[in-house]
Amino acid sequence: MLRRRVILPILASLFTFVLVVACTQANAPTGTSTSSAGDSGGAAGGNPIPIGIAVAQTSNVALLGQEQVVGAKIAEEYFNQEGGVNGTPIRLVFQDTAGDEQGAINAFTTLITQDKVVGIVGPTLSQQAFAADPIADRAKVPVLAPSNTAKGIPQIGEYIARVSAPVAVVAPNAVKTALKIDPNIKKAAVFFAQNDAFSKSETETFQKTVQEQGLELVTVQKFQTTDTDFQAQATNAMNLKPDLIVISGLAADGGNLVKQLRELGFKGLIIGGNGLNTSNVFSVCKQLCDGVLIAQAYSPELTSPINQKFREAYKAQNKKEPPQFSAQAFTGVQVFVEALKALDTKTKLSTLSPEQLRTELNTQILAGKYETPLGSISFDPEGEVNQSQFYVAQIKMEQDGSNGSFKFLN
Ligand code: ALA
Repeated sequence: MLRRRVILPILASLFTFVLVVACTQANAPTGTSTSSAGDSGGAAGGNPIPIGIAVAQTSNVALLGQEQVVGAKIAEEYFNQEGGVNGTPIRLVFQDTAGDEQGAINAFTTLITQDKVVGIVGPTLSQQAFAADPIADRAKVPVLAPSNTAKGIPQIGEYIARVSAPVAVVAPNAVKTALKIDPNIKKAAVFFAQNDAFSKSETETFQKTVQEQGLELVTVQKFQTTDTDFQAQATNAMNLKPDLIVISGLAADGGNLVKQLRELGFKGLIIGGNGLNTSNVFSVCKQLCDGVLIAQAYSPELTSPINQKFREAYKAQNKKEPPQFSAQAFTGVQVFVEALKALDTKTKLSTLSPEQLRTELNTQILAGKYETPLGSISFDPEGEVNQSQFYVAQIKMEQDGSNGSFKFLN
């Protein structure tokens, strides 16, 4: 009985998988991986529908981008096994943005002009989005930002939306949690990377929250995302004896700053912003990452059917809980798939020109409501995500600093 219960679902999944692979191959475009929705009509000819993924696969920013690649690939496999877009598979086309603006501009341009994708999930940084998104907007190609959290992203243009909740709604949660853990906190020092749009935006929220919570903001210290030595800023801040330190930067610089603050003897709570929200910081600050608080727009513990499926798939591959950046990238692909399905049901995609498809897809994205691993989400008319659940996690490192995990506090 037990064997039948186990074997039958496995056989069913195998059958579905073989079917999807067979369909995908039968429909696969000949030639290079840069097949085009334009040439083939995407769904029109029955070919897989190309969706662009423009995230940082190289550079320091790959500490975040690698997690996005994993999340997007899980989505591709999952939604194709579920039948894709009413029977037509999707195909993700990856273009590496690396970590700067030019990389993002190049990736977007290639996806739009050569790969002729129906839409783009990306880029990794807000700093890159402000440079590359206007290109997609002018070409009328819908963009879903998977991790851009700076103020002003959806306002870049009509075709730009995001699944990544902005700093204004996510970051304050970390300060409130720090005060619950230690109600005696009186003085806060804030650090931010001044060459990064997201860090500049996040620090504004942090500084405002700190003051609204009645804390004294004793200093604001600036650094660059490329810095490795923070002795001067850390010493300046510590001379003012803060009880709490709040950092807005990216993973490598942020992790090094945490490490150097602890090495200089800072004992109070440290809050890291969204750019530090990856287990890839563990290898940077090792044991000294222990205790860092980070607000989260995703919890692996959310008990919705789609999150359970995503979590299982992620854990099977990676042997750990899925991180926020993977969950958001999965969600970006999911929104494209579900909007394409809804559009196809109303107007067969095969009857639309590539330009009509992208324009109507953009309208459909904004009109939909989606049950995602992040919870229920929808968009306001500008493309800002409506999401209601946020969390705070604390890094827990093993004694030897070799590994760690995010412990969810709420
Ligand atoms: N949340 C970060 C940004 O917006 C990664 O740049």
